[in-house]
Amino acid sequence: LAGGKRLRPILMEESFRLFGGNSAIVEPFMAALEMIHNYSLVHDDLPAMDNDEYRRGRKTTWNVYGEGMAVLAGDALLNKAFETAAEAFSMIGEAADIAARYAAVAKALQILANKAGIYGMIGGQTVDVELTGKAVPREKLDFIYRLKTGALLEASMMIGAVLAGATEDELKQVEMIASDIGLAFQIQDDLLDILGDSAVLGKPVCSDEENGKVTYVTVHGLEESKKDVAEISKRAVTRLDQLPYKNEFLDELILELVNRKK
Ligand code: IPE
Ligand code: IPE
Ligand code: MG
Ligand code: MG
Ligand code: MG
Repeated sequence: LAGGKRLRPILMEESFRLFGGNSAIVEPFMAALEMIHNYSLVHDDLPAMDNDEYRRGRKTTWNVYGEGMAVLAGDALLNKAFETAAEAFSMIGEAADIAARYAAVAKALQILANKAGIYGMIGGQTVDVELTGKAVPREKLDFIYRLKTGALLEASMMIGAVLAGATEDELKQVEMIASDIGLAFQIQDDLLDILGDSAVLGKPVCSDEENGKVTYVTVHGLEESKKDVAEISKRAVTRLDQLPYKNEFLDELILELVNRKK
């Protein structure tokens, strides 16, 4: 109910369309991924993590309901996500290619679990917490970003693709593209933490500095970071355009994100 850009479900739906998908089967997964994203934010804002009091222009969950309730709300969202995604099985119907459709939904569930888990978002958040207040080598920063933020964007686009019947090879391409979008997205998030307007962002600025976090911007500087957001995003669009399908909205969306203010 708190809004947010809903970027991940949008990316999922557009990736589904890119590969020719045109049914409602993607919808439970769109909701599920947004639930996982929201749980990650509810926990990320906790005093034990980033200790933030505002999100999307409202007080954070822990700030209103207490830390215990925020932990539980996050846990609940994670479980609800899988319960919701699994509803896709009952939407398969009587199609001729029923076995392939079951297999696609099963694969989508696998991607969701994997990208949200220890080799995905949680892994990234773990290294992020572990290294807070410490020196972080450049390669490790990329690793953190590709996991803590990239992994859920990878899940979004890969699930859209797999539900529309993309091949293994296409899935690998989509994973690389989404990983770049995630990296650019997190660098821009770091930039906004310094340059953004908290009234527009809906969350505090200078949170990273207060937490003693090494970010892409503290390592590479403002100008290089801005340049890298644009370059990495362009690389993603170039790769996307090499696929034998076209979705102009998706191309434009990726390039729009470079200039986002929230
Ligand atoms: C914030 O994600 C957390 C990051 C991964 C940087 P979004 O910027 O997508 O947050 P909402 O959902 O729009 O609020
Ligand atoms: C969070 O990164 C990524 C998550 C997986 C939640 P940040 O800690 O920079 O996200 P914001 O700035 O609080 O939205
Ligand atoms: Mg954080
Ligand atoms: Mg945070
Ligand atoms: Mg941030």
